[in-house]
Amino acid sequence: MTENHKKPRVMLLFGGRSGEHVISCATAAAVMEAIDRTRYEVIPVGITVSGDWVPALDDPQHYALKDGEGTYVNAADERVALLAGTNRLVGYSVTNPAELKDLGEIDVVFPLLHGPFGEDGTIQGLLETADLRYVGCGLTASATSMDKHLTKTIISQAGIAVGKWELITDRQWQTNRLAVLERIRALGKVVFVKPNRAGSSVGISRVADFADLEAAIEAAREHDLRVIVEAETSGRELECGVLEFPDGPRPSEIGEIAVCGADFYDFETKYQDPEAVKLSIPANISEDVKVRIQNAAIEVFEALGCEGLSRVDFFYDEETKQLTLNEINTMPGFTPFSMYPMMWKQKGLSYSELVSHLIELALSRRVGLR
Ligand SMILES: Nc1ncnc2c1ncn2[C@@H]1O[C@H](COP(=O)(O)OP(=O)(O)O)[C@@H](O)[C@H]1O
Ligand SMILES: [Mg+2]
Repeated sequence: MTENHKKPRVMLLFGGRSGEHVISCATAAAVMEAIDRTRYEVIPVGITVSGDWVPALDDPQHYALKDGEGTYVNAADERVALLAGTNRLVGYSVTNPAELKDLGEIDVVFPLLHGPFGEDGTIQGLLETADLRYVGCGLTASATSMDKHLTKTIISQAGIAVGKWELITDRQWQTNRLAVLERIRALGKVVFVKPNRAGSSVGISRVADFADLEAAIEAAREHDLRVIVEAETSGRELECGVLEFPDGPRPSEIGEIAVCGADFYDFETKYQDPEAVKLSIPANISEDVKVRIQNAAIEVFEALGCEGLSRVDFFYDEETKQLTLNEINTMPGFTPFSMYPMMWKQKGLSYSELVSHLIELALSRRVGLR
């Protein structure tokens, strides 16, 4: 710490420009509630949907989900900013931006952001330029893990199974649609169409009838002009948390998601219809399968160069014994009722201990290339 303040000043950064804005606010509510205030000073900073940084309320109730309905970071004339290349936070009013108010130095940033412009390396890059420590994965791991096409490319190189997929770039879609459709036909009868960089199932469709394909691609393009189409993978959905410790990353218990009231684990099932999904922690699997998944999760974490935390999601087919990576989330759902914190709770780490652990890990990191 470079200034003479007693507790590390932790900037909670949340909201953001992605389709997961309200989920991020719900996470921030939970972290505000649980963070150990005898150890840390909390500086909440909200990012509005249009990307403005504003001083946020330090009020968990305000940002919590209520009956599945979320809250947004409100636009305001008051703004905050990190002075470029420094760890100094300043405040100003849009009506008088020349008058900067010094809000002190930040010791560590906890980016509670999901999706593009938060979980994808952009914020991480901003913080890197200022030598500002932050929780979680660095720039490259964040960017690669957000990108489903790049993740599969790297992970298949690392020898871990991934399903068949095709990437559709904007140019390909604009100029040679027939060739694109031809490539997709080869993936099989049922495919998943997704924005290449998104989360919380936004923009995802399961397509069982080829006639619905174009509409599904257009829907995904609303979120990302790069679209990924995947062959449907059979099997149970099993997830493993990875958390870094001073001696290296460790796997959590395994969790299972069993969707009963929907085609797949879509946005509604995730946040609005708890009846339609059954979460089991620990998952009812053999010791053998558990160890396979835990080892694979660590391999994925290391292959992508992750740091701090990640949740690695797999499909496991009981009949063929095939384990296939679905995706990795470098800022997984992080309310106390989300899979990642619950999987660690099962291992004896409470939510508030998990928050402290991640902050301490970030504070102990060296800055610069690592
Ligand atoms: N290739 C696939 N085969 C079968 N189910 C899939 C496939 N891809 C996605 N799903 C289903 O869709 C859900 C959301 O897909 P996912 O890639 O995890 O998106 P997100 O990044 O938005 O969480 C998964 O949890 C799973 O239920
Ligand atoms: Mg997912």
